[in-house]
Amino acid sequence: MFLRNKNIILGVCGGIAAYKSYDVIRRLVSLKANVECVLTRNAHRFITPLTIQTLSKNKIYDGMFKYTDKFEISHISLAQKADLIVVVPATADVIAKLACGRADDLLTCTVLASKASVVVCPAMNTNMFNHRATQNNIKTLKSYGYRFVMPENGELACGNYGNGKLASVEAIISFLINLA
Ligand SMILES: Cc1cc2nc3c(=O)[nH]c(=O)nc-3n(C[C@H](O)[C@H](O)[C@H](O)COP(=O)(O)O)c2cc1C
Repeated sequence: MFLRNKNIILGVCGGIAAYKSYDVIRRLVSLKANVECVLTRNAHRFITPLTIQTLSKNKIYDGMFKYTDKFEISHISLAQKADLIVVVPATADVIAKLACGRADDLLTCTVLASKASVVVCPAMNTNMFNHRATQNNIKTLKSYGYRFVMPENGELACGNYGNGKLASVEAIISFLINLA
C-alpha cells in the first residue's frame, strides 16, 4: 500500500512500548502519510500528548467527550476518514476490548465504526501474551480480518526474556507498506 497521502489513524495504548510509537509516527510522516493519533485512557501515563501531537503534526485525540470549536463527533469522523487503523502498541486490555466489541473509549469506538483495515501490533509480558484469553482474543480478531504484526522474542521491561516485545519499527512499517 502506498502510504503517501493515506489517512492513518494510529491508536496508542497504555503499555511500556508506547514510546516506540514516536518512531512509528515519524516514519509514517516521513512517508507522507497523514497520521492522526488516538490515545487510550492510560497511554498518557507512558508518553506525552504534546510529543505525539508535535511528531504527527496533527491534533491528537485523547477522549470522546470533548467540547471543540467546531462540531465534530470524533469517533465517526475518524472512522470515516481512515484508510487504515494501526494500533501500536496494542495492550492486552485493548485487544480484549476489541475482541468483545467494547466501545467505551475513542479508540474502540473508532475501530467499531470504521470499515478501514485494522492492523494490531501487540506488546506485553510473555505470560500475558501467551495466556489463552489473549490468544483467543487474537484469534477472534483475526477472524474479523484484523491483521497482526506479532511481537518478537527479546528482553522485556519486566526483566524477563521471552515473546511479547513489540515488533521492530521497521517490521511494522514494511508490513504497512506491503499491505495488499
Ligand atoms: C510499568 C507498566 C508497564 C506496562 N506494560 C504493559 C504492556 O507492555 N502491555 C500491556 O498489555 N499492559 C501493560 N501494562 C498494563 C496496562 O497499563 C494496563 O492493562 C492498562 O489498563 C492498559 O491501558 P489501556 O487500556 O489504555 O491500553 C503495564 C503496566 C505498567 C504499570
